[in-house]
Amino acid sequence: MKLCLVALIVLASFNNLLSQTKPDKKMDTFISTLMKKMTLQEKIGQLNLVSVGFDVTGPVVSKNVDENIRKGNVGAVFNTFTPVAVRKLQEMAVTQTRLKIPLLFGYDVIHGHRTIFPIPLGLSSSWDLVSIGKSARIAAEEAAADGLNWVYSPMVDIARDPRWGRISESSGEDTWLGSQIAKAMVKGYQGSGLGQKNTVMACVKHFALYGAAEAGRDYNTVDMSRRRMFEEYMPPYKAALDAGAGSVMTSFNEIDGIPATGNKWLMTDLLRKQWGFNGFVVTDYTAINEMVAHGVAKDLHEAGALALQAGVDMDMVGEVYLSQLEKLVKDGKVTVALINAACRRILEAKYKLGLFTDPYLYVSESLAPQVMMKKEFRDAARDIARRSMVLLKNHKQTLPLKRTGSIALIGPLANNQRDLIGNWSGAGDWKKAISVEQGIKDLIGNALVVNYAKGANITDDTLLIKRLNAHGGELAIDSRSPDEMIREAVQVARRSDVIVAVVGESQGMSGEAASRADIGLPGRQLDLLKALRETGKPLVLVLMNGRPLTLKWENEKADAILETWYAGTEAGNAIADVLFGIYNPSGKLSVTFPQSVGQIPIYYNYKKTGRPFLGGVLDKYRSRYLDVTNEPLYPFGYGLSYSTFSYGDVKISGNSMKPGGSIDVSVSISNVSTFDGEEVVQLYIQDKVGSVTRPVKELRNFKKVFLKAGETQNITFTISEDDLKFYDAAMKYWAEPGDFNVDIGSNSRDVKTAMFTLTK
Ligand code: BGC
Repeated sequence: MKLCLVALIVLASFNNLLSQTKPDKKMDTFISTLMKKMTLQEKIGQLNLVSVGFDVTGPVVSKNVDENIRKGNVGAVFNTFTPVAVRKLQEMAVTQTRLKIPLLFGYDVIHGHRTIFPIPLGLSSSWDLVSIGKSARIAAEEAAADGLNWVYSPMVDIARDPRWGRISESSGEDTWLGSQIAKAMVKGYQGSGLGQKNTVMACVKHFALYGAAEAGRDYNTVDMSRRRMFEEYMPPYKAALDAGAGSVMTSFNEIDGIPATGNKWLMTDLLRKQWGFNGFVVTDYTAINEMVAHGVAKDLHEAGALALQAGVDMDMVGEVYLSQLEKLVKDGKVTVALINAACRRILEAKYKLGLFTDPYLYVSESLAPQVMMKKEFRDAARDIARRSMVLLKNHKQTLPLKRTGSIALIGPLANNQRDLIGNWSGAGDWKKAISVEQGIKDLIGNALVVNYAKGANITDDTLLIKRLNAHGGELAIDSRSPDEMIREAVQVARRSDVIVAVVGESQGMSGEAASRADIGLPGRQLDLLKALRETGKPLVLVLMNGRPLTLKWENEKADAILETWYAGTEAGNAIADVLFGIYNPSGKLSVTFPQSVGQIPIYYNYKKTGRPFLGGVLDKYRSRYLDVTNEPLYPFGYGLSYSTFSYGDVKISGNSMKPGGSIDVSVSISNVSTFDGEEVVQLYIQDKVGSVTRPVKELRNFKKVFLKAGETQNITFTISEDDLKFYDAAMKYWAEPGDFNVDIGSNSRDVKTAMFTLTK
């Protein structure tokens, strides 16, 4: 069944890709005819994207929207949905404007629309491409039934700095995994092709390198070598485009001194000429205007010229194109040809979405209630949520829990609903989310006594609470003092058999403009855990957070730790399933957890240095810290299971590969436990000597396999020359002959190795 689904999606997206790249004469003629009728101002109007409604993600808000739509000054709107609201604006565009051109309707559908799935960092931890694709498919079904035809996802920025709040929206640190996820998401959104009632156009963001903001501070400068850019950061964008994504969003940061939104090398030379992208490019929120603050344009006039000349087609909220382009043409600073090209690309998107045939294709008042949050979608959300959870520690099989006796359910997130759906879940209704308390009670019923205590506030910082609540948070400070709350929790723990402490961040502590310099548990939560530890009762931590946290004490002292991210609408049910062994955890980290914030940036595929630390305690002139080891707390790819998997030695079909050839590597893996379970078998390759320095290893493949208790399977991977390629000193992409290590294992650290040679 799963295979069938994958095959269908692959075939559909191949057709989709073909339909996007092959010339479409009918479309060209239609658009040429239309454009002949358009005035310059009407063409400029198509380049204008306005925000209508509630969600504001920048300091500026669109004004006079209705009037501008009627005048033909608007090409697309976002932040509004429901068939009724969309119909109203679409009607305005197709009945009250001179040329009756329909609008695009966009929205930040990031991890589900009405049914909310785990945050992207959580989704990526499932290493389950079928499930990830399914989450995007369901999101598209709901979004399209809500009048939308364009979603601002996937975000494919490689993110390695847990201080950066937007790491929560990413697929983590790895290029190869991130690229597979990028493809799965685009295929999920765009389904069997654009122009269907239940598909939406994807928008790949943020092009490019946004995840590399210095010091993890949002919107900060990025500076990166071309080598790192092409080897590590660019492939996921390219993968999303190869999967047929119809649009691209610019990033806020600069690249080589020029903001992405005004960067011709990026938007034209690379994106269009080198990669052959033929969709349209939209700016991020007011990113053209921000080029003035960046200091590359003295005013909006110059900023508008920079963006258009760079190849940026649509202006999100900034209205710089609307206010400046006509004058820029008059002043001879931009050509009408550039405006024509941008306008054509936007009209093409509308054509591909079927809007010229039926502007109300996505607007059905009767469909919406049948589609939204239907049982099938909620069931899928529960299953995907369970798959995204990562078991970080399980001392003496503390988990799964017994279904009898009593548990102390403690912590500010234990009966919380708001935070479960995470950030970027604008259309999600947190009141429909299942809390952990609810999930446990529904699953186990009366056989288990659940004793609840809040134990701590998420944070006691009143200014921070004010800031978070001003943007959708629901944080409150308990009327009792922190010490009183801890005392009550300890009493509750004393009269229970086991403690389940649900702790972490509030959802608004990650996401956009939510960087943190200290990434430990906020507020008094660690003090709470320390007091609970003193009771001597088994201590299980259920974590909710949008980034890797520093968890040194927690890792040493807790008996079990389950990372659940923000698991979405079905969070509480999914967490209960895992805690009580209905589902055996199978997630693996897609991002490294540091021991200390001072180790950042820390990631598994680092480069070798000339003075590597080799373990000598007294060694001085080595690449190391005085106060912490170089190791992460949990490495990339790490995650436990209730099963125990044992790996055999890596067997290789030959110890040399010819250019253009391939070799097979295999490993036997046994489930030596009494639990059926799934394991993500990971394959890494290390190029031992290159003409330029190479990473210590790079993920090149993985398989998620199910093994019954006691079962052994032989897993085979094929390695081809393509898996060995990189950019040499002259930036030529090829595979240099030489020796390679192949590591196979259950995470990036615990592997078994074999070797082969790529011959000349
Ligand atoms: C974010 C984008 C988002 C856009 C529209 C921006 O602030 O960076 O990711 O798509 O707002 O809401």
